[in-house]
Amino acid sequence: MDKFLIEGNGPLSGEVEASGAKNAALPILCASLLIDDELRLSNVPALHDVITTKKLLAQMGVAVSSPGPGLFAANASGITTCVAPYELVKTMRASILVLGPLLAKRGHAEVSLPGGCAIGARPVDLHLMGLKAMGAEISLEGGFINARASRLKGARIYFDTVTVTGTENLLMAAVLADGETVLENAAREPEIVDLANCLTAMGAKISGAGTGTIVIQGVRDLHGADHRVIPDRIEGGTFLVAAAITRGKVRLTRTDPNALDPVLVKLQQAGAKVSTGEDWIEVDMQGRRPTSVNLHTMAHPGFPTDMQAQFMALDCYAEGVGTIRETIFENRFMHAQELLRLGADIRIEGNTAIVTGREKLKGAPVMATDLRASAALVLAAIAAEGTTKIDRVYHIDRGYEHIETKLGALGARIERVRQ
Ligand code: EPZ
Repeated sequence: MDKFLIEGNGPLSGEVEASGAKNAALPILCASLLIDDELRLSNVPALHDVITTKKLLAQMGVAVSSPGPGLFAANASGITTCVAPYELVKTMRASILVLGPLLAKRGHAEVSLPGGCAIGARPVDLHLMGLKAMGAEISLEGGFINARASRLKGARIYFDTVTVTGTENLLMAAVLADGETVLENAAREPEIVDLANCLTAMGAKISGAGTGTIVIQGVRDLHGADHRVIPDRIEGGTFLVAAAITRGKVRLTRTDPNALDPVLVKLQQAGAKVSTGEDWIEVDMQGRRPTSVNLHTMAHPGFPTDMQAQFMALDCYAEGVGTIRETIFENRFMHAQELLRLGADIRIEGNTAIVTGREKLKGAPVMATDLRASAALVLAAIAAEGTTKIDRVYHIDRGYEHIETKLGALGARIERVRQ
């Protein structure tokens, strides 16, 4: 398993490009199952989770190809099976996103129940609730979700809890259903809007994506399309925090400044000078130590849970005491234990972390536990004194494209040690 060796090395400076959004690319790749035609994508990030999704589609008989960097094509007309096996699903929960499209287009799906993961139980009960409301027969046998439906029927579906992939699964189920579907208390993330835009290009009839109520008029068939995946706001936000934690100045390019509002507000509260342009965001700490910020995670448009760990790392170095409350997942403070090994001062009380900032932390061996926790450890390490060794960096490769190269170009000293 690869490791990172990181030498703390002063303020970052320069420009870095955002890659395509992992959490938009994954559902959109699965949308290829809705057509007997070719879906052609660009700006698809080179991530482990994208490779896993391609494997999942290919083992179903979908013709997948990568005709060039960031390009992806899929044609599901020759699909041979509607089964998503445990071996692949256990490595990536987002595999559950094949359920809605398979059921909508093929009338059958057998998807292994995704296990829990480091950050929580991650149930899929709301996905199944919605599909049942649309007339699917669903049984759980041998760790598999077995779903059948001759043709799904439009329904009014209310989500007790806002769920991103739940909204995506039911959006993809509804586009081929008979009649109108209304998704109430739907997730509003930019990745949902990107999926809806791609489905619309394929001929779907959708209104309200990006709001809490999405209305879909089912159609008989969809067709192939070309779609460019939006920039990754979480990868981009991570690089902006890297600028702040090292007291540097970084411009993030090829991004969407409007998708990171809550993060930019918090960076300004931390003392950063933030400026934006049409497709760029610049954070300039002007050499100053950050100031502690308080935050609590919420569904979009609130502060994103996927940026919580990164801001905990920032607060570890800030002037003052910051409180961080995680309201989305029940176990998303795994990075705290590892940050303590670098000398951080963090006290966990239930779903709240109280972080007393330190002028400097000291490098030490630490272990990555989940995707965004790993990013937080990288951020703490590039600002620390001395050397930090991070084990299990495969977690970070799931969601960050060549992170050591991108941060290295900004002045960070990160060496990947292949084992
Ligand atoms: C998506 O996960 C993202 N993953 C996560 O990003 C992100 O952290 C999360 O949304 C929240 O924004 C992808 O898009 C591939 P949820 P998802 O369903 O859809 C509960 C990353 O780092 N819930 O919105 O699995 C659930 O337990 C990853 O890129 C139910 O109770 O999250 C959680 O408490 C990590 N029943 C809350 O809803 C359900 O059926 C939100 O989860 C579904 C969810």
